[in-house]
Amino acid sequence: MCGIVGYIGSKQASPFLVGGLRRLEYRGYDSAGIATINSPEGIRITRVAGRVDQLDQAVSRRPQVATTGIGHTRWATHGPATEENAHPHVGGHGVLALTHNGVIENYETLKQGLLALGYTFHSATDSEVIAHLMAECLKNISAAPNATTDSVDRYVEAVQQTLVQLRGTYGLAIVFRDRPDMIIAARLGSPLVIGVGRGEHFLASDTSPLVGFTERIVYLADHQLAVLRADSIQVIHRDEGKVRPNVQQLSSQTQEVDLGGFPHYMLKEIYEQPESIRNALRGRLDKDNGTAKFGGLNLTPQQLRSVRRLLLTGCGTSWHSAMVGEYIIEELARLPVEVEYASELRYRNPPLEHDTLIFGITQSGETADTLAALREMKRKGHHTLAICNVIGSSIAQEADGGIYLHAGPEIGVASTKAFTSQLTVLSLLALHFGRLRGLSFEAGQRIIARLEELPELIERTLECHDKVRTVAARFADATNFLYLGRNTNFPSALEGALKLKEISYIHAEGYPAAEMKHGPIALVDEHTPSVFIIPRGVVYDKVLSNLQEVKARGGPVIAIVDHHDPQVARLADEVISVPATEEFLQPIVTAIPMQLLAYEIATLRGCDVDKPRNLAKSVTVE
Ligand code: F6R
Repeated sequence: MCGIVGYIGSKQASPFLVGGLRRLEYRGYDSAGIATINSPEGIRITRVAGRVDQLDQAVSRRPQVATTGIGHTRWATHGPATEENAHPHVGGHGVLALTHNGVIENYETLKQGLLALGYTFHSATDSEVIAHLMAECLKNISAAPNATTDSVDRYVEAVQQTLVQLRGTYGLAIVFRDRPDMIIAARLGSPLVIGVGRGEHFLASDTSPLVGFTERIVYLADHQLAVLRADSIQVIHRDEGKVRPNVQQLSSQTQEVDLGGFPHYMLKEIYEQPESIRNALRGRLDKDNGTAKFGGLNLTPQQLRSVRRLLLTGCGTSWHSAMVGEYIIEELARLPVEVEYASELRYRNPPLEHDTLIFGITQSGETADTLAALREMKRKGHHTLAICNVIGSSIAQEADGGIYLHAGPEIGVASTKAFTSQLTVLSLLALHFGRLRGLSFEAGQRIIARLEELPELIERTLECHDKVRTVAARFADATNFLYLGRNTNFPSALEGALKLKEISYIHAEGYPAAEMKHGPIALVDEHTPSVFIIPRGVVYDKVLSNLQEVKARGGPVIAIVDHHDPQVARLADEVISVPATEEFLQPIVTAIPMQLLAYEIATLRGCDVDKPRNLAKSVTVE
């Protein structure tokens, strides 16, 4: 979702701005722009309703001398993806320009007030309202009898006066026509990180644009505002006044991300799974005690033993992980688990005892609903933990503790390796809780042995790719798909369907296989393929019956199996074989062919798999 960059120093700003926006493309966007201060012209805005490549061309058409600038990729919320709605937005006839991530809820009321004062709006955005409001505050402060011309304080004051009037969330970067030596940044609920250089400073909404430019960073916290100048940073907290910037080292996980010879990030990330799973397991298996260990839960074994219930929350793919986690934890640890969409949890008031432990599951660590749900749970006195991939993200920082996935950057918008790493961590968690409760040492050791085999198992699973290509070619023209499974393979079916629909735009539904006959079976015909996840296990025969029901109605069947069964081979139109493993680890293995199937079908249909339409990598709005 929307990205922000900024540069101030002695070099030309636009190469960093455009390059930084390119690195933020993975978040999903539909328009882009930069604002640079070119003396004596003032603020120059270059915007396109399209890709960063087009912005690059537009910027190159006119020479730039600016050494100060800000940039933005926009994911449309208020108003369509047009050049007028693209950021940066200008306030008060060109005195300032700003970029904004987040949503301002009271923008309509503020806009009415500004219209009455004679301001003209060129966009439908809530962000332009902030720009004019700030210009108005600056005008009033400057008109005061004791105003000191061009003092930094005057600009800070104008920003502060604006912020108190906003209801909603923001990450803001602001440049001023008359102060080309300064950028002001402000944050509430939308991340911003400052890159500290020598004689230059950088700004971005996540660390990816900063890689290679600096290794020293400062995360801005909520209610903080920063004044960036070439040779200094000043951080001011709304309530505490000036605070010392907390300079941190840029994590080594944030390596340079390139395609490594793959045509798409999604495919690269699918193939990275043996390694990402290895990283999720690294250092966490305690063979001597037949358990798993974590460094960051910030709870003693005694406190963990007294937990009576877990509540797992998240959105999209992370919610599917939570659902798989529910099966595994209840099975291995005999501990009741609830799963709730974060977007629902944040506005529900479920009766929960204080011995309920809350886990927020999130790849990005920035999902607005998950962050809000965790805050709400924290407010009610629960210990909140994050299962998160992005180090230093908002959720990682705000939770009381947590477990990092260490999956490395996930650039493809469709989550792949984060999903299997989440399932790996949830399996470790089930083992950990199990061993604190009734699970035997021998069972713990057996689980560890299976977990250790996982990376190699995934390598072998990836060998199904050729078969998946054939299946994709046969069904790429279908307009509806069903994904069916039972037990842990039910949430797997939901995830398989989500992968297909989000990148190929084919309608797909996941269902518990037995539930199909209560309605969805009406969809079955010769044009609607059903993907059956049918590895061996307690419900194998039951799912086989469901498969027969589909075949009896002429529906094509793609079966994902972990052993040769002549009956399935005879019934199914296509059979994809994966290696066998313990039942609770099957969702990790069966995810691979479903990811590959979605990828192959989407590429055959000419879809942009890494940047599917309308989607954003991290959903920072409600
Ligand atoms: C689907 C997908 C989304 C995310 C969801 C939550 O492929 O990527 O459904 O899983 O937006 O995102 P995180 O995990 O970053 O909180």
